[in-house]
Amino acid sequence: MKILVTGGLGYIGAHTSVLLIEQGHQVIILDNLENSSLRVLDGIASITNQRPLFYQTDLRDRKAVVEIFNKHTDIDGVIHFAAYKAVGESVEQPLKYYDNNINGLIALLECLIPQEIPLIFSSSCTVYGQADRMPIDETSPMKKAASPYGYTKQIGENIIQDCALANSSFKAILLRYFNPIGAHATAQIGETPNGEPQNLIPYLTQAVAGKRTELRIFGDDYDTPDGTCIRDYIHVMDLAAAHLESLLYLHEGKNSSACECFNVGTGKGNSVLEVVKTFEKSTQKKVPYSIVARRPGDIVQAYADTHKIEKAMGWKAQYSLAEALQSAWKWEVHSAHLEAQ
Ligand code: NAD
Ligand code: UD1
Repeated sequence: MKILVTGGLGYIGAHTSVLLIEQGHQVIILDNLENSSLRVLDGIASITNQRPLFYQTDLRDRKAVVEIFNKHTDIDGVIHFAAYKAVGESVEQPLKYYDNNINGLIALLECLIPQEIPLIFSSSCTVYGQADRMPIDETSPMKKAASPYGYTKQIGENIIQDCALANSSFKAILLRYFNPIGAHATAQIGETPNGEPQNLIPYLTQAVAGKRTELRIFGDDYDTPDGTCIRDYIHVMDLAAAHLESLLYLHEGKNSSACECFNVGTGKGNSVLEVVKTFEKSTQKKVPYSIVARRPGDIVQAYADTHKIEKAMGWKAQYSLAEALQSAWKWEVHSAHLEAQ
């Protein structure tokens, strides 16, 4: 297949691009480099021995995007990662998020729908908010979004569903990711947070590497077995595979409706303290940490019921939490070398 990957130099996009190329597919990357760099393209090339075609383009630049689609009239599918993702920033600058995440999607849909190109959309478990039941299945209702970022995912899903209803030949899959972590086994690509990390794993690895004084664990008085919050941490290469399976599923006409949503997680919940202990055991590195106050807005627990995607596509997470954490640590060490160069 020939696949256009928007945001293909970002964290999840780069890992997915590698997997697609390794599986023999042709990848075209569109990215404006706002949250990535050409070094990632080098990383993809060094892992796969192929340099994918790259357009440094902003998805909202409709003219430029139309030109790309006019130039490549044989695109078999689009995986749409390009968006802003910092929850806190979205609260401070909501219009920035609505502009990029919604207008970028609309610009893309305007090209895809007339050409009947299928779409895989990056959604998030954040659309569920604090679900009433664990594990969370896809019938769990969307609660009011806790942030403008989360709302852009809910709106994005609705826009795509409306388009699928209005255009019988347009097909899409909405993938609701739980917590993506880890890096490619070669450590040539990984997650590169901007400034101080907001998410657990990059903060933890930076604390172990000495870039941060210590990991602050936000609250140990939650109603969970050890008092810390529970999440479903999924290896980014497992997540990448879910995108390829989704494209194949649509291509083989196995979809039961024009637009379907699927959870992508491991199906297993781990607490923050379990993550720390698993990291220490699997890397033999001590994690400096202290318990601090709860982080406002955090939900207590979220982990996926993954039966729907397993049954429909035969996809199941393969990597363990320990393997994902080892790969994150390997990337932390390697990226320090890259920075030093
Ligand atoms: P990322 O920031 O690493 O990657 C996004 C990429 O898109 C970046 O390379 C950025 O430069 C590019 N981009 C942003 N706006 C663009 C635009 N207008 N035009 C062209 N390129 C643009 O993020 P990620 O972690 O790889 O996430 C990918 C997608 O998955 C996002 O839609 C995100 O909301 C979603 N998601 C991420 C997580 C997570 O924890 N990482 C969880 C759930 C959902
Ligand atoms: C984040 C996003 C959410 C997204 C989800 C999946 C926020 C507020 N939410 O949430 O929109 O859908 O990832 O990718 O960013 N923790 C610490 N110390 C830290 C960092 C985190 O104890 O320094 C704890 C948190 O309290 C939480 C867990 O670790 O219990 C995971 O946090 P994080 O990695 O930020 O992910 P989410 O909270 O799930």
